[in-house]
Parts: sequence; C-alpha cells; structure tokens
Amino acid sequence: MLDSKYFTIVTYGCQMNQHDSERLAGQLKSIGYEYTESLSEANFVLVNTCCVRESAEKKIYGKIGELKTLKASNPNLIIGITGCMAQKDREKLFVKAPHIDLVLGTHNVHQLVELVKEFEQTKNHVLAVWDQAERLAPDVPTIRKGNISAWVPIMYGCNNFCTYCIVPYVRGRERSRPIEDIVKEVHQLGLEGFKEITLLGQNVNSYGKDTDEYGDFADLLQAVDQVETIERIRYMTSHPRDMNEKAIEVIANSKKICECFHLPVQSGSDTILKAMNRGYTTDYYRELVAKIRKVMPHASLTTDIIVGFPGETDELFKETLEFMKEIKFDSAYTFLYSKRSGTPAATMADQVPPQVKQERLQQLMDAQNEISLAINKTLTGETVTVMVEGPSKNDENRLMGRTGANKIILWDKQGTEKIGELAKVKITTAQTWILKGQLTT
Ligand code: SAH
Ligand code: SF4
Ligand code: F3S
Repeated sequence: MLDSKYFTIVTYGCQMNQHDSERLAGQLKSIGYEYTESLSEANFVLVNTCCVRESAEKKIYGKIGELKTLKASNPNLIIGITGCMAQKDREKLFVKAPHIDLVLGTHNVHQLVELVKEFEQTKNHVLAVWDQAERLAPDVPTIRKGNISAWVPIMYGCNNFCTYCIVPYVRGRERSRPIEDIVKEVHQLGLEGFKEITLLGQNVNSYGKDTDEYGDFADLLQAVDQVETIERIRYMTSHPRDMNEKAIEVIANSKKICECFHLPVQSGSDTILKAMNRGYTTDYYRELVAKIRKVMPHASLTTDIIVGFPGETDELFKETLEFMKEIKFDSAYTFLYSKRSGTPAATMADQVPPQVKQERLQQLMDAQNEISLAINKTLTGETVTVMVEGPSKNDENRLMGRTGANKIILWDKQGTEKIGELAKVKITTAQTWILKGQLTT
C-alpha cells in the first residue's frame, strides 16, 4: 500500500523490556502502522531503553545520535524514547537530543496510542512519565515475537533496593497481577500455538507479597503447571533470598516447570553481599543450592555476578572466584560494577579502578568458561529431550533446541523434526556455550 505507515522498535535491556516492546508494537499496529525491520523505511522509530549499566546508556545515546542523521533526511520521521532511561532522564532527553518527539516512561507504556495522536496534532514534544505506576495498567493489544515461546509478566517493579541497582527507581514498587489473569493468558497462548511460556518479574519470588489475594509464587507455579494447553514453563528472575522450599517442592513435583534455576548471587563475599543489601550470606546460598540439587540432581544453575563493587579488595574478589569454583554454575553472567547516580553504592568509598575491574572480570570469565565446558562434557553420550526451536543462526541445515535445563543443542536436520515439538538428541560434542548431537527419534 502506498500510504502505509511503518514503525520499528529498537529494544535494549531485559526480557521485561522485550515484552513491553511487544505491547508497544501491538498498539502501533492498532492505529494502522505496519512493522518494518528497516530504520530507513520507518515513519516512526521507537527506542525502548535500559539504564542498568552505563555501557547500555552509552550505546543507546549512540543510537539516538544516529537517528538525528536519519531525521535530517526524513523530517517527518517520528522518534520516541521509552523504557528505563526515559523514566530516569525524562525531559532531559529533549535537551540532549531535540530531535526526539516523544518520551514515554515505564509506567506509561499503555498510553502510546493517545500520545502518538497528541503528537500528530500538536507536533510538539510529548512527555509522559508518571512517577508512580497504576496498580495494574490496562490491557493493550500485543504482538508477540516468535510463535513458540512467549513472555507473561506476573509482577512489575522491585522493592529490594540492592545498593548498586537503578531498577527499583525506574520500575516502581512491586505490583502482582491477579493469578486468574495470568492463568487465563497462559491458557490462551497455548490455544494460539505457543508451547513454552516464561513468567516474568524483577523478582518473581516476591509474587503476591503486595496483596493477600493471590497466594504466593509457589501457588502461582502450581496453578500454571495445570494449564493443559502449554508444555513448558520457565520463569525469571528469582532472588536467592526469596526462593523457598515450597517453591522448590512445587517445581520438583511439577509436570512442566523447567528444572533450571537462575539465582543471581552477585558476590561470593559476605562483606560485599552485606554492602549490596542482598539479604543473604554465602552460607545461606550454599544451603539453598544443596537443597535444590538434593531434590533435582539434574537441575541447572546459573547466576549473575558483579565485579568491582565499591570496597571489593583483592582478597574479597578471591572469595567470589573461589565461591564460583565451589558452586560450579552451569553459566554465569558477569558484569563490571557500574556507578548509577542516585543509588547508595554510587557514593560509597573505595570505588574500584576500571582496569582492576577488567582484570577481575577476565579472571571470572576464564574460570567460568572452564567450569561450563567441564559440566557440558559430562553430558556427552547422554540422550536429551529438546524442544525444536528452528534453524541454527549460522547454518540452515542445522536445527537448534533447548533442553528443560536450558542447554542449547544443535544437530543436523533430518527432516522429521517439527518446530515446537519435542525431540530426542544424543549429545556427541560439548562446547562452552552449546552442545552438538544427533537426532535419535
Ligand atoms: N531483577 C533481576 C535483574 C536485575 S538487572 C535480579 O535481581 O536478579 C540484571 C543484573 O544486572 C543483576 O543481576 C546484576 O548482576 C546486574 N546489575 C544491576 N545493576 C548493576 C550495576 N549498577 N552495575 C553492574 N551490574 C549491575
Ligand atoms: Fe535490582 Fe536487586 Fe531489584 Fe534485582 S532485586 S532488580 S538487582 S534491586
Ligand atoms: Fe534495563 Fe530496565 Fe530491564 S534498566 S535491565 S530494561 S528493568
């Protein structure tokens, strides 16, 4: 169509942001915009931002700079900024980058349609950033990426205030969705053909704590496990402090909940954990892992670790390195501590110099790669069940699937496999990040 309007969304940050982008896309589609991947073809570019680390912000400002050039050649281009950086920087964004037309906060995602209309009428900067979220934002049309796996938010916001973290300031206080809404949505997604759902929240184990109406996270897991239309259930992210025995029990006895635990430990030093306000000790974490491994010996365990938190001496860093070697995570996301202004850690004494942080990060990554490879090697010769997700990124003749424990498996396509269905693959080769195998059924 000649007069079609096209939009594109560039998304940074976590799964919650990816899902917000699906809700933004749905709204734009409802007012006649069509999706395009191409920035130069778009009449409307929305950048959904993250500010968890400075590196993310730098990248995003780079992208916003690029859009200035694009707008110079296409003056009618509408540029919107949303997500966590929009929530944090608000009208400052217009000052830094006057070519931006709309700034939309994290609590205002559902208002996109009215704000676009407002802009189209006034052609003036539109700013919509609420300080606080409504208890529950109204439903909006959603266009999901992919057709096998879908995200389902179960709670928004975070009350933890870890001393390094900006998220509670840009995502507001914890708000849980009603259990029956979640179950209904999961059921509906199954009817639409989705096989796997991932329950989303900044701290899923806090589900239900903001009200006494819906039960807790374990109750929710149990309810979702009963939904017949769906095959696999994942969730993220969980806080070690709030992962309780009831939830572990429900997962162990469930039919569909994957036995993979992402439990960000952040540090292996009790001194640092305390300064981070994480609310647990390394001993507590050890016991938690032991409990999980006792009832689910095949469960996978992954984590997040921050290096170079203020006050982290060589000694304290070594504690983290040793802890990592002791626990043996399947994989670990490791980050350089990034100062976020407004958080307590930003003004703490003894900030760690950048090159010391870099060296520590490298040591952690080297140690983790060795552990990941060793764990993956123990899987060679085993036959695993994977959900067939589609062709591998680099080779069309190869298929990719993930096990319940979230291991990525690649194998040569045989032609009998069906996308979205389960298949059995015998592992032949282990690498640090992936495993290769042969189809057996
Ligand atoms: N709510 C989730 C994820 C939060 S952000 C959770 O609590 O696990 C994802 C990861 O980013 C965190 O686990 C932490 O490891 C890292 N992170 C958060 N703030 C950071 C900062 N200021 N500098 C470096 N890494 C940070
Ligand atoms: Fe940030 Fe901590 Fe909340 Fe996670 S639990 S989002 S790290 S404050
Ligand atoms: Fe980033 Fe916001 Fe997620 S800061 S990690 S996009 S909650």
